[in-house]
Amino acid sequence: MDRLIKLRHRLKEKGLDCLVVTSAENRRYLSGFTGSAGTLVITSTAALLLTDFRYVEQATHQSPEFTILRYDELIKTLGQVFTEQGAKRVGFEGDVVTYQQYADWQGKLGDVEWVATQEIVEELRMLKEATEIEAMERAAAIADTAWSQLLPRMVPGVSERELALELEFAMRRQGAEGLAFDVILASGPNGALPHARPGERVLAPGDLVVMDFGARYGGYCSDMTRTVCIGKACHKSRAIYDVVLEAQLSALAAVGPGKTGIEIDRVARQIIEEAGYGDQFGHGLGHGVGLAIHEEPRLSPKGNKTLKPGMVVTVEPGIYLPGFGGVRIEDLVLVTQDGYRVLSHSTKELLELN
Ligand code: GLY
Ligand code: MN
Ligand code: MN
Repeated sequence: MDRLIKLRHRLKEKGLDCLVVTSAENRRYLSGFTGSAGTLVITSTAALLLTDFRYVEQATHQSPEFTILRYDELIKTLGQVFTEQGAKRVGFEGDVVTYQQYADWQGKLGDVEWVATQEIVEELRMLKEATEIEAMERAAAIADTAWSQLLPRMVPGVSERELALELEFAMRRQGAEGLAFDVILASGPNGALPHARPGERVLAPGDLVVMDFGARYGGYCSDMTRTVCIGKACHKSRAIYDVVLEAQLSALAAVGPGKTGIEIDRVARQIIEEAGYGDQFGHGLGHGVGLAIHEEPRLSPKGNKTLKPGMVVTVEPGIYLPGFGGVRIEDLVLVTQDGYRVLSHSTKELLELN
């Protein structure tokens, strides 16, 4: 209920009579409803969840704070709701609603003023409550354990695809309700692609292997990356690993309330630039995580939001060398009153697996 109170404050500030919510994450955050079809209408006094026949019963159980309305045609029911609620200025999620939807709403319900909003619910979602942090800790623990179970299977001759599947299986076996995103597992030269898809390539001695994965638990995502070497690491592999690790540890140490995403990104980027690999670190340092795998705040050269206790972000510098391979190290981090707490616990020493 707290979330609705906060949202209503925002609506009042913006002079909106109601907000129409269609994003799956925002819908779940506000109502608890996990079905795939549902539209929330939130006014200063009413909280309505419009859904179709398939989800009426589920919505009734999951969203006791909401009045559940079944629709056959969403637009008609929306129109009735606006009339009943006397809603004239209607906010919608500008980053979520498609042009086609907007044109349809505007054409058929043109007697209300449609106002595009940005990040109203997303801003609330940035600050995690205790139950949300617990879910993310659990998701991170599942990923940690799954990775420890995968390590002994990482031997020359096994394919990336096989290993990615095992990692997924290990996470699900421990209670993950799904993956936060498709497992990235890239060996040898494939590691130079930051978001490589696991393929038929088999591990070979001397390969660096980048593994980026996360579990979903209670709707919440975890996100971590580790890079290991198959057998002995060559001088170059160890050198770039050490630079990325130093950048990661230094950026982590800089995380705390009052810092901006730009400042934290700068810490890691400077170390990588000074080592001569600035051009090989072409993505942002990190991002917020929650019900979505990528959310606010961003840690990047454009991440101007200020960190606050309760935010959960990733810290994930990398170096990518085409034709050779890559290194990325990523942790999930909670911003606390006096600094940070890392939620992913797997070792970051360079493992040389035999
Ligand atoms: N899996 C993508 C990321 O780490 O952001
Ligand atoms: Mn990741
Ligand atoms: Mn990430």
